[in-house]
Amino acid sequence: MTAPKIMTVFGTRPEAIKVAPVIGLLNSSHKLLSITVSTGQHREMLEQVNRMFGIVPDFDLNIMAHGQGLNGLIGKAIERLDLVLSDTAPDAIIVQGDTSTAAAAAFAAFNRSVPVIHLEAGLRTGDKLSPFPEEGNRKLIGQLAELHLAPTSGARENLVQEGVSRDDICVTGNTVIDSLLTAAQWNTNFSIPELAALEVEQKRIVMVTTHRRENIRAMANIGNAVRRLSECFEDIVFVLPAHLNPEVRKAILPHLSGRRNVLVIDPLPYDQFTKLMSISDFVLTDSGGVQEEAPSLGKPVLVMRNDTERPEAVAAGTVQLVGVNEETIFANAVRLIQDRSVYRTMANAVNPYGDGRAAERTVAAIQQYFGLGSRMRDFTPA
Ligand code: UD1
Ligand code: UDP
Repeated sequence: MTAPKIMTVFGTRPEAIKVAPVIGLLNSSHKLLSITVSTGQHREMLEQVNRMFGIVPDFDLNIMAHGQGLNGLIGKAIERLDLVLSDTAPDAIIVQGDTSTAAAAAFAAFNRSVPVIHLEAGLRTGDKLSPFPEEGNRKLIGQLAELHLAPTSGARENLVQEGVSRDDICVTGNTVIDSLLTAAQWNTNFSIPELAALEVEQKRIVMVTTHRRENIRAMANIGNAVRRLSECFEDIVFVLPAHLNPEVRKAILPHLSGRRNVLVIDPLPYDQFTKLMSISDFVLTDSGGVQEEAPSLGKPVLVMRNDTERPEAVAAGTVQLVGVNEETIFANAVRLIQDRSVYRTMANAVNPYGDGRAAERTVAAIQQYFGLGSRMRDFTPA
């Protein structure tokens, strides 16, 4: 029997970070063949990650264009991926998470009767519009997938409630923790002098990231909250690696200009970003991946959203939802800065999202799907 061809499709920064360890294992597998496709939904931010993990996609669909709508992006991705599917005839396709790339790739594969394997399956807020369009995308992928690789048992239960058979679900942990542990072994130096100086001077740092589409209208609130924090706490440096989405930059950056202790920088390479997180006091974010990584580093996270599909770290006490209102963001950050007992309660390192072996469980589950081995035991947090 020839080895089944597994096509991994990705297009954005977080997808690349999360598929990197899986691609690494597929490349060294004797039982499976690996094909990689980048849709190019992101360009600079994706290439940063590809460089870091040594990924050279076999195909690049090059779909990114500034000012493009969701349907333009999805339309191009489906059309261009269809040609690659037709030429390469994979035996299964891996999609990750809930992006336009993941939804388009799942749909394109489904239409060609190629089985869909969903990595990071089963995350739900229960609100179709939050996050938008991601909650819709992941529900759609859940309907199309044959094999669901859930990061946590909670995610598995969400799928079971939607009628997915337990036999088709494997709890792997999240591959982002595999990547985080890999990056922790690299001896990273900051390439930006201001960051290197912060490290040397052991400055107190608060890291801020924001990019969610549904938060763009609230970014003035986020910007004003951070500005006020920087005025109240002049000894703290607020570092914002700004997402490259021009809409995001237009919405938040004007509120932060002119502050000596607010450092706005371009997106950081993954190793520098995780290093910055590890020397920060805490994180203000609306990112999904950051909510998964920071608890593992023992860093409190204030999530600037009204809900989250990642409730495990909230339950563990490391993550707190603070919404997108200026006053609540400001007040909760002040509390965390001033009240060391609140800080200590939140700063416990917990690992609800993985143990660094999620890629191994992923590849074992795929091999089992093709009758080439058995699954590993489901991930359970220590
Ligand atoms: C996408 C995902 C979101 C994920 C986020 C990670 C969808 C619907 N959303 O959102 O789930 O959390 O990626 O960051 O798929 N841009 C560049 N260079 C880059 C990247 C982006 O210039 O390297 C600009 C482009 O103008 C692009 C815009 O940012 O059009 C928005 O990118 P897009 O992928 O559409 O949406 P994100 O908000 O990044
Ligand atoms: N990240 C990075 N550089 C940055 C900002 C984020 O490498 O400047 C990483 C971060 O460690 C996490 C991922 O990007 O793994 C999160 O991406 P993003 O917030 O864009 O998307 P989301 O996770 O919300 O889908």
